Amino acid sequence: MSILTKQEIISLKNNKVNLGELLKNQDDISYINFVLENLGQLSHDFNGDFLYELLQHSHPQVRFNAVKNIGKLKNLDANLLIKNYQVETDTKVRREIISSIGRQRHIQNKSFLFNVLSDTDPKIVCQAIRALLVFEHDKTIEARLRPLVNHPNEMVRTVIYKEFFAKFHQKNATLPHAETYDFLKNIVVHADVLKALTHVPDDSVHLTFTSPPYYNARDYAIYPSYQAYLEFLERVFTETHRITKEGRFLIVNTSPVIIPRVSRAHSSKRYAIPFDLHHYLARNGWEFIDDIIWLKPEACVKNRIGGFMQHRKPLAYKPNAVTEYLMVYRKQTEKLLDWNIRSYDDETVKNSKVSDGYETTNVWKIDPCFDKIHPAVFPVELCKRVIQYYSYKGDLIFDPFGGSGTVGRTAKSLDRFFFLTEQEPVYFEYMKAKSKPQTLFKERQTLFLTLEQFVESTK
Ligand SMILES: C[S@@+](CC[C@H](N)C(=O)[O-])C[C@H]1O[C@@H](n2cnc3c(N)ncnc32)[C@H](O)[C@@H]1O
Repeated sequence: MSILTKQEIISLKNNKVNLGELLKNQDDISYINFVLENLGQLSHDFNGDFLYELLQHSHPQVRFNAVKNIGKLKNLDANLLIKNYQVETDTKVRREIISSIGRQRHIQNKSFLFNVLSDTDPKIVCQAIRALLVFEHDKTIEARLRPLVNHPNEMVRTVIYKEFFAKFHQKNATLPHAETYDFLKNIVVHADVLKALTHVPDDSVHLTFTSPPYYNARDYAIYPSYQAYLEFLERVFTETHRITKEGRFLIVNTSPVIIPRVSRAHSSKRYAIPFDLHHYLARNGWEFIDDIIWLKPEACVKNRIGGFMQHRKPLAYKPNAVTEYLMVYRKQTEKLLDWNIRSYDDETVKNSKVSDGYETTNVWKIDPCFDKIHPAVFPVELCKRVIQYYSYKGDLIFDPFGGSGTVGRTAKSLDRFFFLTEQEPVYFEYMKAKSKPQTLFKERQTLFLTLEQFVESTK
């Protein structure tokens, strides 16, 4: 059989040529699929009988294309599709059948769609949910769907949560997306972050970039247990979520830590902080977006491989840890990134454009930075990249664990505002000393406040 062109297929269709005859006894699967994929719109008098026959075809792609076309028929036979659904084994075809039936928007398909809700394929369950949601104000549908908020699959739970539960908690944003409150601009608060955050309004921060204290690895990071540590960070990042604007980012820098052994009779213990923390973030409305690896030169990190180099005994292999993670999360939203971007005026979008030489992979080679006062400071280059790639000029950047203030200084140098909290007096004073008058942000000078002063300023 000669190969048809797309135009020929359309003209055969328009001239009401019996396409069923054309495809009958055709062994070339790609020929059948090509015809089916190029049928285009189907008019109300199109004879689709051959499409139903193709539902019995042995090749799943042919059955899939047949269902797709049946979905375009004005007087689709839902009962025939339902019959085929019961015996169909191919996932793609099954999904397409549900999608075609859903698009019909016929209330008589309701009981079939109810049955589909117990399908083992979560995508099919989601399609059935979407098909049922079309019938607004139907109490029986709502009663069947609401309990699915406890469904074992997370996709299903999210759809139901958004539909029936989240909308009742939506707050009205009081500020335009691109703006924030003046009393948060270029402020450093000397306080426990959780105490300070109770005075920060919802939806006020555009980006959070931080490096939390590493569990019991330094004096300023002593917690009664690893569980207590993770729960403290959960509280901080849940509050951070509340104060973050819709669809904006949180970037957390962590790495596994080692707590050295107490004596030669014990072994040291390694804690997988980024991996453990992830669950606490994900369950509180932070959607995981990316993992970026911060790669350091080997010469800069602690030597752990020394012993192994001598003895080469398997099991006692301890590689030098040259990486840290930047875990990228976004405040969950149904809005697309495009919505966030369109909240800025053209001038800001143009001025914030990332210049040439940006990083193209998720492995960022950056030298660490050492400081004589603070033991764990960010390299400026790391802050620069995060702030440039994840915020616009004029945005408010938050660091709950301010340390020596690298995030603040870098944000300022890139024409963003910052809001930092830091509880250790030594580091708070150090930040203050580092903030020289000539580096003051041209529009708004930096203020170093006690908790009381900050609370007063919010009134
Ligand atoms: C890893 S350091 C951050 C260093 C910072 N990224 C920099 O570039 O200088 C973590 C900081 O969090 C501070 N911190 C720990 N617990 C805190 C809390 N509950 N509230 C505010 N700051 C806290 C510590 O004092 C420490 O300075």
